[in-house]
Amino acid sequence: MSFHKLFRFCRKIIDFNAFQCRLSRKLSTKEVQEDGFIQCPERVFSGIQPTGVPHLGNYVGAISNWVKLQEEGNSMMVSIVDLHSITVQQDPAELRENIQTMAACLLACGIDSDKTILFQQSTVPQHAELCWILSCLCTLPRLEHLPQWKDKSKRVSDPKVGLFTYPILQAADILLYKSTLVPVGEDQITHLELARDLARSFNRKYGLIFPRCSQLLGDVAKIRSLKDPSSKMSKSDPNPMSRIDLSDSPDEICDKIGKAVTDSLSKDITYDLDLRPGVANLIDLHSSLTGQSVEEIVKYVQNQGMNKKTYKDYLASVVNDKVQPMNAEMNRLLSDRGHLNSVLKNGQDKASSIAVNTMSDVMSLVGFR
Ligand code: AMP
Ligand code: TRP
Repeated sequence: MSFHKLFRFCRKIIDFNAFQCRLSRKLSTKEVQEDGFIQCPERVFSGIQPTGVPHLGNYVGAISNWVKLQEEGNSMMVSIVDLHSITVQQDPAELRENIQTMAACLLACGIDSDKTILFQQSTVPQHAELCWILSCLCTLPRLEHLPQWKDKSKRVSDPKVGLFTYPILQAADILLYKSTLVPVGEDQITHLELARDLARSFNRKYGLIFPRCSQLLGDVAKIRSLKDPSSKMSKSDPNPMSRIDLSDSPDEICDKIGKAVTDSLSKDITYDLDLRPGVANLIDLHSSLTGQSVEEIVKYVQNQGMNKKTYKDYLASVVNDKVQPMNAEMNRLLSDRGHLNSVLKNGQDKASSIAVNTMSDVMSLVGFR
């Protein structure tokens, strides 16, 4: 036997033993949950698409919740999910800028890169690798029934395969880091169910390595459009007056709140979601931003004798007090691209070191190594 052959043979034995050790550690009965998942340390993971400046709905419904989880000391990861964003057409130059804007915005909103692993999804290629392996475990009907596919595929003229399979990529995002908690909005619950199903299928077919991931729903109300309180505040609404972006100037915010749709039932401020959804939306927004309860706000506003017009002026100042410091910080960060890039590179390194480990186990279990 040549020296090289002997060397390779010895390495195989060593690798095999190391692999057995790792698997037997993972398979120890104490760590295995009854429902087909492995027990892992808690890790919180969430993602946001870099498709423009976030609006107040994104801030109160998602970002502020992540900051809270971070401050509570959780092991947090937040990914700017650029691979997801090309499921619909993107202009490359705009996308490049939107990735930086999103990073600046998340930092300005309170994501601390020393406490949270903040990174750009496409800089960790294992997301796409794991996605492929999971897609070989996923059936077509499982994806066809997802409400987001039914809804989104109707809205674009020529829906692409990526739009159809993107929930598998989302599952890969979550499983790659063995995440256990995923803070998302209600619209993502079915995607979390899919992630659990795929983790369970993988664990059954190849070996137990993935934990159960659970959705963590925020307790904040859905912020609705300022122009149509029957629909949610959304980036895709063609009317910019329907939402408040975190980059809006003080005057724009006063104008948007001043022109928000209310009703002609009364000049006074009362909270009634069914009869006065426009006014209720303003109060919900107020409550989500300040942490005061709806009752406290209504009582205060009534005691001050405010009517709809004066309440809107007051709310605009409350919103500006919150948004303008974040806006200024976002602009400051955007003027220092070197710092932004080093934050993202640092996040990439930390995320990669976890992703490489998971994929090494996955590759062995599947039979590629
Ligand atoms: P999207 O902008 O739809 O990609 O959503 C990003 C995150 O923001 C998700 O977790 C959503 O649940 C949350 N979100 C989006 N719009 C709103 C809204 N109008 N009110 C509350 N949360 C929202
Ligand atoms: N699909 C999510 C959205 O559209 C974004 C996302 C991608 C995500 N990967 C994720 C959210 C992983 C939570 C976990 O908002």
